[in-house]
Amino acid sequence: MTISGAAGRARRPRARVARSRTMSENDAVRIGFVGSGVMAEVMISGLLTRGVTPPDHIWASGPREERAADLRARHGIQASTDNLAVVDHAEIVVLAVKPQTLAKVLGQLRPRIRPDHLVMSIIAGARMGVIASGLDHPAVVRCMPNLPCQIHRGMTIWTATQEVAPPVRERVRHILQTMGKEIYVPDEVDVDRATAVNGTGPAIIAHFVKALEDAANFIGESRPLARESVLQTIIGTAELILASHRHVGELIDGVTSPGGTTSRALHVLHQGRFAAVLTDAIDAAYRRSVEMGDKLDEQVRTVKS
Ligand SMILES: NC(=O)c1ccc[n+]([C@@H]2O[C@H](COP(=O)([O-])OP(=O)(O)OC[C@H]3O[C@@H](n4cnc5c(N)ncnc54)[C@H](OP(=O)(O)O)[C@@H]3O)[C@@H](O)[C@H]2O)c1
Repeated sequence: MTISGAAGRARRPRARVARSRTMSENDAVRIGFVGSGVMAEVMISGLLTRGVTPPDHIWASGPREERAADLRARHGIQASTDNLAVVDHAEIVVLAVKPQTLAKVLGQLRPRIRPDHLVMSIIAGARMGVIASGLDHPAVVRCMPNLPCQIHRGMTIWTATQEVAPPVRERVRHILQTMGKEIYVPDEVDVDRATAVNGTGPAIIAHFVKALEDAANFIGESRPLARESVLQTIIGTAELILASHRHVGELIDGVTSPGGTTSRALHVLHQGRFAAVLTDAIDAAYRRSVEMGDKLDEQVRTVKS
């Protein structure tokens, strides 16, 4: 099969190249990262650690040779400053630049994207439509991974255009599973929502951890004790909720005795509008993701016209 599953497009006379790039289900995929920063390295490390792709099947590019040399030395991959070499060698091209660089990069890559390519984007806010139009290429996957992907405990929400065939979606799933859990969503708006929830989530939870540690310290707990007990309480509670089939509200009720300590603490959180503030924070992040998407649409339209 071709990796994109987008058979028969006659946009450019590249049929010979496309045929030579076809692959069987069992081949290790050739994957290239345009943008070789933090998230690209997280994905590269997942692919290598899980043995999904050997280092000589991974390409990465960015503007700085020192960074390329560092990636070559650490992972043995083929890293350079040449975005087009990445596209030429790869079957899956992962766009991992910052949103503000996207329009320029799409313009640069467009003439070299082949019909058999699959383009995967991890760029916050960037809609599949804008990438498809910027590259003149319909097979696009959009993912929103998060920071715990660094330790293979991440959460990636993803979607794909209809031109990405089911076997190719399975390969995408396999790649994303090297970083932790993944969930496919048919509606792209859920990826914008995920940008706010699981993309922003690690920073919000880290903020919560810091606040809880400070609070424990405020009432006299030592910093080391507070750190360990706060983190274990969060991990244990998350695992308990996961293991339980009960609604999370029932779990709270189960540990809240009338007039007890939990009841007092929850009352103060209600007074401080804790849940409402959290909703406002997630809503602000979601709106920002949509706003960034609108801006990228505009930028790519301008670059193309
Ligand atoms: N970090 C997260 O938790 C997270 C989670 C989900 C999604 N994302 C998304 O992932 C993308 C990358 O984020 P990141 O955290 O990995 O950022 P990052 O570390 O800054 O990586 C971006 C990379 O792109 C390189 N770059 C700049 N201009 C380029 C060009 N013209 N061609 C090729 N490469 C170029 C940068 O090189 P220089 O450093 O030399 O400028 C940098 O290495 C973003 O779009 C973000 O929205 C991030």
